[in-house]
Amino acid sequence: MSNQDNRPVILTGDRPTGQLHLGHFVGSLRSRVGLQDSHHQHLLLADAQALTDNADNFEKVRRNIIEVATDYLAVGIDPTKTTICVQSCLPALNELTMLYLNFVTVSRLERNPTIKSEIQMRGFERDIPAGFLCYPVAQAADITAFKATVVPVGEDQIPMIEHRLPGFDGKAKMSKSLGNTIVLDATDKDIKKAVNAMYTDPNHLRVEDPGQVEGNVVFTYLDAFDPNKEELEELKAYYRRGGLGDGTVKKRLEGILKELIGPIRERRMELKTLTILWIF
Ligand code: TRP
Repeated sequence: MSNQDNRPVILTGDRPTGQLHLGHFVGSLRSRVGLQDSHHQHLLLADAQALTDNADNFEKVRRNIIEVATDYLAVGIDPTKTTICVQSCLPALNELTMLYLNFVTVSRLERNPTIKSEIQMRGFERDIPAGFLCYPVAQAADITAFKATVVPVGEDQIPMIEHRLPGFDGKAKMSKSLGNTIVLDATDKDIKKAVNAMYTDPNHLRVEDPGQVEGNVVFTYLDAFDPNKEELEELKAYYRRGGLGDGTVKKRLEGILKELIGPIRERRMELKTLTILWIF
């Protein structure tokens, strides 16, 4: 894993447990597409890590490796610029993990706040898979093995709220298990349905009422995706004054999302056809 130039080295990755969605797009994918020109970027399909809490569902993880890889390519991650690798295909990572495990105590692992809350969330109590407890060590091995100096965090890794996209239902996080995601190959119909279901300002009953922009999911999405910031600011002011209906704002968002997702969906479909041909 040599680095001939002196661009900083990035290592980041995803657990392949499901298709990626717009939350991933805003939280990480979009910036990775930009970073691949200025950085030496490696993306890890962290299948071994995904198994640490999916021991009952190996098939799901296996199946989603190709799904996540397809998502990467569909959004514009270029394999000639970014290295995409499958964690389980790199046995050196396990060797380094074994070595690192000697430098950490069980009680220290148990005190890790992310692990603590994940144990609670998954209801493991004392039946914690040992591999799960140790995954932060494995992650340290991943990072150091690649000599990474920049580690863009996964959204679930650090509660950095700054750019997290809420689910279309207004819940704090877009997540598959909450059923509030917009996937990267959503059809126009899916997009329309999600946007229509979006939470706005519950007190904005009549068009002429003044509306609230803060906490209004439609505006949160517009902040993330509207390419015309100036027009968006005018729209917000109009909404605040009253006279602008939710339907109009939603129509704008729907158009923007269709335009964003359309080409990703097309590219994803082409890639899927290619992988199917390749498998046979
Ligand atoms: N933990 C990350 C996630 O859940 C995936 C991951 C595995 C990773 N190894 C990594 C991220 C190393 C950054 C660096 O998405």
